[in-house]
Amino acid sequence: MSINNKIKNICCLGAGYVGGPTMAVLANKCPDINIFVTDVDKEKIKKWNSDNLAELPVFEPGLDELVSKNRNKNLFFTSDIESSIRKADIIFISVNTPTKEHGLGAGYASDLKWVESSARLVGKYSEGHTIIVEKSTVPVRTAELIQKIVSSYSKISNKKLPSYKTFSVLSSPEFLAEGTAIKDLETPDRVLIGGEDNEALDLLSLIYQKWIPKEKIYLTNLWSSELSKLTANAFLAQRISSINAISALCEPSGADVKEVSKAIGSDTRIGGKFLFAGPGFGGSCFQKDLLNLIYLCKFYNLIQVAEYWEQVLKLNEWQKKRISKLIIEVFFGTVTDKKIVLLGFSFKPNTNDIRESPAITIALELIENGANLKIHDPKVSKEQINKVFSAKDIFKNQNKSQNKKWEFSNELSTLFKNADAVIIVTEWPDYRDLNWQEISKVMRKPSWIFDTRGILSEKDLSNTDLNFWRVGKGFIERNK
Ligand code: NAD
Ligand code: UGA
Repeated sequence: MSINNKIKNICCLGAGYVGGPTMAVLANKCPDINIFVTDVDKEKIKKWNSDNLAELPVFEPGLDELVSKNRNKNLFFTSDIESSIRKADIIFISVNTPTKEHGLGAGYASDLKWVESSARLVGKYSEGHTIIVEKSTVPVRTAELIQKIVSSYSKISNKKLPSYKTFSVLSSPEFLAEGTAIKDLETPDRVLIGGEDNEALDLLSLIYQKWIPKEKIYLTNLWSSELSKLTANAFLAQRISSINAISALCEPSGADVKEVSKAIGSDTRIGGKFLFAGPGFGGSCFQKDLLNLIYLCKFYNLIQVAEYWEQVLKLNEWQKKRISKLIIEVFFGTVTDKKIVLLGFSFKPNTNDIRESPAITIALELIENGANLKIHDPKVSKEQINKVFSAKDIFKNQNKSQNKKWEFSNELSTLFKNADAVIIVTEWPDYRDLNWQEISKVMRKPSWIFDTRGILSEKDLSNTDLNFWRVGKGFIERNK
């Protein structure tokens, strides 16, 4: 079967962190297929089309190159959703599926309103046979919902010719991680495609086979594919909570979590990845996908299973709070007017994404306690932080917000003057090579460094009078 005869145009609904990079790689690997990336957010599409590649709405290493190479050749960012769907042989749904804020299942279940609106658009505008691929992370059996919605359109609009509009729904969840998205998409550990329609399964598999070995493409049933995605994220999150739990035990007991991670990770049955203790996991997905999994377990009345996974989230929240509490306690319970430098605001390095970043919780706890916060991040903007903060209670109330102080800077050199403490929250490479000897000279005494990512060693701080705390090691006595 030649994909060139069957698949000429692909449309992607959603030009976010998944849609943008995924389609950029697909366009690069399949020059014979035209790819139309669309979004209801017109401003976002404008940014994707910006001549200044620094203005792309997603920062990912290598993404700008792919966009500049393929844009307007076979990769098109467009707000014309209708004609993109009309032309498409395959439609990827890559829209947001956040946790529901209201109504049934609020706080746990995924809000599928964007998936539903996508299905309605596809139902309305598609022509002929269309393969729909769920790329968004969704609860099990969402494919059924999509199938029902699109089928209802084929019946309404084509009473005389019921076969005119037909659909196959596949699930192909995305496993990319932010910061390494391009590499993950180019050389994935595996690609998962779930579905019941063998021809559609083969076609999508053939597209992936343009650059991914066939043995790495797993074909499953729809529900296994949907559930595997939630399960993969739950297992990854569980490893982080497990090592963070151990980090808390290391600190009072004299063990060092880095040594423990290495020791257990070299057992090939455990493996070394995702064993880095930190301030708690962030990002748009781990929390929401765990909540979704917990909701599903409760839905099927598997209460013990739900409670098991809930503990992973509880531990994560606790880790973030225990770190901010510990910092406040170092200053004898009050950080009022203390100048505290927070290094890194994105939820991990090499991304400008701040969704659920542990930096948010830590910053808010410190601001609430009166600290004067100086925030630095190489890729995040002040506007992004402002947007998140202004939705929080402590900034909403005018009276309460008066004394809440924070500033943003992307200039490192002037940041440390008179600072009482520096907290490393995100392990950006920029923070690994800081000259602590020079920094210590301009900080107010006594001065503190809190390394929540374990990127500094005692040696980095040699010849300084800096007090030092590292996650999973605790307060480190040094010969100054
Ligand atoms: P995102 O918020 O960055 O992007 C989603 C985009 O979809 C938004 O720009 C939104 O405007 C657009 N949209 C909503 N409804 C639309 C519609 N009807 N038509 C066209 N566009 C529409 O979200 P994301 O991070 O790209 O995540 C998308 C999905 O992929 C989620 O389900 C997420 O769980 C999953 N996922 C995300 C990652 C990640 O690293 N971010 C990785 C794997 C899977
Ligand atoms: C995660 C998964 O790794 C992807 O496979 C998945 O596709 C994606 O979620 C998704 O579904 O959205 P992502 O959230 O982008 O990717 O980044 P991760 O590298 O998984 O990091 C998540 C959080 O865990 C970050 O805050 C990171 O700092 C933290 N982390 C990670 C640790 O604290 N320790 C570790 O050892 C690893």
